[in-house]
Amino acid sequence: MRIAMIGLGTVGAGLARLIDAQGPRLREQTGRSFELAAVLVRDPRKPREAPLPPGCVVTADPEAFFAAASGATADVLVEVAGGAAPGRGFALRALRAGMHLVTANKAMLAAHGAEVAAAAQQAGRELFFEASVCGGVPVVAALARAVPPADRTGLLGVVNGTCNFILSAMAERGTPYASALAEAQRLGYAEADPTFDVSGRDSAEKLAILASLAAGRAIQADWVATTGITGVTPAHLAEARAHRCAVRLIAAARIDGPRAALRVGPAFTPLDHPLGRLSGPQNGLAVRAEPMGEVFLSGPGAGAGPTASAVLSDLRLLGSGGPGTPFPTTTASRADITPLEEPGGGIRWLSGDGR
Ligand code: NAP
Ligand code: HSE
Repeated sequence: MRIAMIGLGTVGAGLARLIDAQGPRLREQTGRSFELAAVLVRDPRKPREAPLPPGCVVTADPEAFFAAASGATADVLVEVAGGAAPGRGFALRALRAGMHLVTANKAMLAAHGAEVAAAAQQAGRELFFEASVCGGVPVVAALARAVPPADRTGLLGVVNGTCNFILSAMAERGTPYASALAEAQRLGYAEADPTFDVSGRDSAEKLAILASLAAGRAIQADWVATTGITGVTPAHLAEARAHRCAVRLIAAARIDGPRAALRVGPAFTPLDHPLGRLSGPQNGLAVRAEPMGEVFLSGPGAGAGPTASAVLSDLRLLGSGGPGTPFPTTTASRADITPLEEPGGGIRWLSGDGR
């Protein structure tokens, strides 16, 4: 399988290393070889720890990139660069040029997912996006493929590794906020602009994607009532400790027929709740649907290894001829979306954070 890739940062370089290391095994499993044919970056002179095969074109010019991808008859575009607007343009162009799309770009999906999914359908190409939510935890596969449709679905999760890392470091090691954020950036957990993490926007984008899958209609991140962690103080952490709780950035949704209530915000989370026990960059998601009951998934939510693994798992599915991940092509009505009042599970939103 010939791969054209946009982005060679934390995730892209991680994927290049994985393809290099796992190539023979992938060929055994799928009967196909996986090779990077062209890579688009912003600065091709930047030093990188990314093994690229001889002949792989690396460029900062989108025209040269798409020409090289088409010359190499690339089968798939892997988009691991980020940004809603450039991501939309790259996705639509690749699909119309006959490539499948594997993306980690949650900002793009949470704003333009329905349009891109419709373009994929129209072009007869597959769309995969496991890496867009919760890094190495297969929550997209679980919601899109395993959880049966239900009239009512509840989602309750910690879906941002950077914020969980910061809140854990502040509470468990007494690390100041700024140092914890700098460490999360150094470890490759944070977005290129970490404001997306700490403002809660990244969690809102992920919650919008998960809620879209559960509702069968695209829900936009802009519609999610969102508070970040910048207002969390040592006093909040002490209050949490006194009540046998941790402060966690909670993303929660309740989907009921055509209506959905959603919210992202810091919350007192009991230590005997699975979300209260998540530490460092771990993510977790509880999915409740009737008559299935509740399923809980947790694991590494950010960083090169987990996220590149999720991208590779999508590539392997594609290489084996598997169908893409269904994303709704119709959009929910804005009037049906409201802020969620209580998250449930004994979890309480922090007071005094602007709500
Ligand atoms: P990153 O380390 O900042 O890397 C971004 C890469 O994309 C860089 O190589 C950059 O080029 C390139 N790039 C950015 N904008 C571009 C543009 N307009 N045209 C061409 N190239 C462009 O980011 P990352 O952490 O790998 O994240 C990439 C994507 O994966 C984002 O959508 C992010 O939300 C998502 N994601 C990340 C993680 C994680 O743990 N890091 C987990 C899940 C999903 P230069 O290197 O030349 O600057
Ligand atoms: N910045 C994101 C996080 C990357 O910290 O969760 C994973 O999507």
